[in-house]
Amino acid sequence: MAETAILSGAQHPHIFRGTTPRTPRCPPSGGRKAGSVNGNELAGRVAIVTGGAGGLGRGIVERFAAEGARVVIADLNVAAGKELAESLGPAALFRAVDVADPEDVRGLVEFTLNSFGGLQVMVNNAGVSGTMHRSFLDDDLADFSQVMGVNVLGVLAGTTHAARYMATAGGGSIINVSSIGGLTAGRSVITYRASKAAVIHASKSAAIALAEYDIRVNCIAPGNITTPLLASSVAGQADADATVAATRQKMAAMRPLQRVGTAADVAEAALYLATDRSAYVTGIVMPVDGGSAAGSTVNFDRLAQLGAFQAPPG
Ligand SMILES: NC(=O)c1ccc[n+]([C@@H]2O[C@H](COP(=O)([O-])OP(=O)(O)OC[C@H]3O[C@@H](n4cnc5c(N)ncnc54)[C@H](O)[C@@H]3O)[C@@H](O)[C@H]2O)c1
Repeated sequence: MAETAILSGAQHPHIFRGTTPRTPRCPPSGGRKAGSVNGNELAGRVAIVTGGAGGLGRGIVERFAAEGARVVIADLNVAAGKELAESLGPAALFRAVDVADPEDVRGLVEFTLNSFGGLQVMVNNAGVSGTMHRSFLDDDLADFSQVMGVNVLGVLAGTTHAARYMATAGGGSIINVSSIGGLTAGRSVITYRASKAAVIHASKSAAIALAEYDIRVNCIAPGNITTPLLASSVAGQADADATVAATRQKMAAMRPLQRVGTAADVAEAALYLATDRSAYVTGIVMPVDGGSAAGSTVNFDRLAQLGAFQAPPG
């Protein structure tokens, strides 16, 4: 029997094959719900979020501020960072930082200590994807230094400078944003994947080295979240919009949970790792990716729709 016939959702009323989320079959729980703001989970805490002016970082900044933290938004994007800080009032400050410059990062921690008097949570989120080439053989590696500088040196500098303070102040939580690209190999953006794998290994090593100071170091590995990041990897290319659309379609075809993730999903994970709810958790990598890192749901129907797979007759 043809594989498509075996897997066809149309013949199985209980198998979901569409793109809209199912209505949950479980009754709603009475407990804490994802995204629900308590307002005080981070009361009294000071956090830095690099890359906090946009995308996932912005979502983390907004959630941390909503939970009572004072937050320093560190970003290259001055206009967006200032606008966000102003919208959040006295609980947020903006600092222009290039995380690829360790001296900038040292200054960021100093600025935070001078402004808010402490630092309990460091989120090293700023990252760049580099250029997505048509094939491995087309890659000229011209973006290698930039990708490694922001994604690896930036995270290491943030970890080190935050930890130097935290080690003298009773500990803290460092959250490094990797990617499912750092957990799984693939055909494209190989420098990016290598940089994100480096973030995971560096974070685990830091978790071991810093445990004696009660500093926890964990990674979040996002995937499938709609932000400007993907478009930036094909910016300027002739068929950029079509490439982004096709890539998103392919990601959706492979993703176990069908809905697209949001910055709020990642912020929820960051909040858990920032608070004492995760007090016994260090050195982990938490994918927030709709299940993609677990493996792909090979959906032949959808691959056939995308033209990536020729369904056999019958
Ligand atoms: N969106 C996703 O699905 C996804 C998937 C996997 C991993 N990630 C990771 O999540 C993090 C955030 O990604 P995003 O999707 O929000 O990207 P984004 O491009 O939307 O936002 C990145 C932010 O970082 C800032 N930034 C870039 N370079 C910087 C530098 N050198 N110094 C300071 N700030 C800098 C940008 O100005 C921007 O505000 C990145 O580390 C990225 O690799 C995202």
